Amino acid sequence: MPSSRRTLLLSSLLLSSSPFTSAFYLPGVAPSSYDKGQAVPLYVNHLTPGIAAQDDQLHAVLSYDYYNPIFHFCQPKDGPKDVRESLGSIIFGDRIRTSPFELHMGENETCKSVCEEVTFGPRDGRFTNNRIQQAYDINWLVDGLPAAMVSLDPITHAEFYSPGFLLGTVDDNGEKMLNNHFDILIDYHKVAGLPSQETKYRVVSVLVQPASRGNSFIESSGQVDCGEGGSPMILSETQDTKVVWTYSVYWRESDTAWATRWDKYLHVFDPKIHWFSLINSSVFVVFLVGMVSMILIRALRKDIARYNRLDQINLDDLNGTSVVEDGIQEDSGWKLVHGDVFRCPKSPLLLSVLLGNGIQLFVMTGVTVAFALFGLLSPANRGFLGTTILILYTLFGFIGGYVSSRAYKSFGGEAWKRNIVLTPLLVPTMVFIWFFLMNLFVWAKNSSGAVPFTTMIAMVLIWFVISLPLSFAGSWLGFKSQAYEAPTKTNQIPRQIPPPAGTLRPIPSLLLTGILPFAAIFVELYLIMNSLWTSKIYYMFGFLFLCYGLMIITTAATTILLVYFMLCAEDYRWQWRAFNGAGMTGFYVFMNALLFWATRVSFGGLTGAVLYLGYSALIAFLVYILTGTIGFFASWAFVRKIYGSIKVD
Ligand SMILES: *[C@@H]1O[C@H](CO)[C@@H](O)[C@H](O)[C@H]1NC(C)=O
Repeated sequence: MPSSRRTLLLSSLLLSSSPFTSAFYLPGVAPSSYDKGQAVPLYVNHLTPGIAAQDDQLHAVLSYDYYNPIFHFCQPKDGPKDVRESLGSIIFGDRIRTSPFELHMGENETCKSVCEEVTFGPRDGRFTNNRIQQAYDINWLVDGLPAAMVSLDPITHAEFYSPGFLLGTVDDNGEKMLNNHFDILIDYHKVAGLPSQETKYRVVSVLVQPASRGNSFIESSGQVDCGEGGSPMILSETQDTKVVWTYSVYWRESDTAWATRWDKYLHVFDPKIHWFSLINSSVFVVFLVGMVSMILIRALRKDIARYNRLDQINLDDLNGTSVVEDGIQEDSGWKLVHGDVFRCPKSPLLLSVLLGNGIQLFVMTGVTVAFALFGLLSPANRGFLGTTILILYTLFGFIGGYVSSRAYKSFGGEAWKRNIVLTPLLVPTMVFIWFFLMNLFVWAKNSSGAVPFTTMIAMVLIWFVISLPLSFAGSWLGFKSQAYEAPTKTNQIPRQIPPPAGTLRPIPSLLLTGILPFAAIFVELYLIMNSLWTSKIYYMFGFLFLCYGLMIITTAATTILLVYFMLCAEDYRWQWRAFNGAGMTGFYVFMNALLFWATRVSFGGLTGAVLYLGYSALIAFLVYILTGTIGFFASWAFVRKIYGSIKVD
């Protein structure tokens, strides 16, 4: 076991675990300053798939370890060492190691070889060529900054840095050219110290211009010829190919201050169009929600007034003063089901467990997005986002337990022991098993994307040591507190439910309910998926925050509407319908993933497809629980409110 993993495991056992320390020690937040000539380490990370230039499609999802022997990259003399990473960073795929590149602050180097000549066998050549075809990127880190290539925004023509640079390129004849020479361009910023101190230098940007040089060689005297102007390096798939890895380093002075060095990486593609689509969809959503709530409030007000007037008439009848009002018929509509509407739903245990987990997700997402909004999750802190999500989810186990047990108590559930145990176990275990199965696939493919076994154990341990007790404590508190009393009494004998008609039939109603919340998040979702699958930086948390808010409002409004119509049709089984209807958003998220697949992705093999679908399904499942919970609680509050405002004898 590599030592850093062991430390990680050990330290997660103790509470001062790696994720916690990395949460307080913000790597990359304190600037590192170098003296002239001081060594600046270059770290290597995994190889990740990108969007291929030839067809604008994503062809793979697996990432590969940089030191996978198949690529024949040069290793440091005493072997590569792991660089300490946070748990979040490991789970999200980073594998950072030391490298043999020698960079010295402010000292240019032209044409150095990284190591002795290496030989690609036919099999390795074919494998590497396939990765070139799939537009794999090499990822390096210098002083915490990803080595980038300059890209042009296709619409605004603004320059920005996109992390990673190509393993190779494909020319018009389909020939794959391996990039075996790297021009490393580093910008530094001078920091004038006090007169007594020496001038210090800071790294503010790292660019790599890779090149394919077929004629480079190392002379017997040790002199290196980088083969400039020669033919490209093409790996043969039938015989051995000799390759020399070379690099040059150019240091350039820059005005960019250290504090703003990330700006060029955090490029928002055409913010105007982005804003436009967001405003467009939010106007649509707000308009819809406004209309829906107006109709609803009006109808309800009329209903309540009528019901209470009817009561009055009935009372008057009893008193013998018969007042006959025109057009008054029998009671109809949602009031009729007052004796059933708070009847215990089917499988109250499962529902309450899902609700507990949903609330946990809800609070976690809200806090994470808020954190991000305030710039606390800057990409300068590698893996911080992942770590934050993990910690928050773990800590909010308390809220999950509390909500689950209190909801269960309110449903009149009695198997409280099972509720306490299942709340923190059911959903996380399902997610973990799914994650584990996906991981087996990645392992089988010898990809570095697989989460190391020790990290898995660390996750399970964190779960058992922190989240489980917190959840138990929350459950205990939930059972101690009072159940939500129903405002109306439930009849002994359940009412007959008239057969549903039209859009109130289960499937159309579920599909209709889910589509509006999905419309609110559609644009952001597309962008997040894009950056997730191509390992690019997502940094539009302002938009995301708005979208999350819009989604909550739409989910609540549409689900309330669904429940109102159901109750009017005298169907009182609203609990699961509300949960599933709102949860349908997850189904649309999955559909969206399929759409993304159809338009932007073309996988050659089975593994890519399985992983893509598997992870999309996992995300969709979590969205199902999240939106389902929002919809359920909104409806619950609504139902309590309307039945609380009518008089029932
Ligand atoms: C290093 O190379 C860069 C880019 O060619 C050049 O601007 C700079 O002056 C060079 N620095 C030294 C010390 O030669």
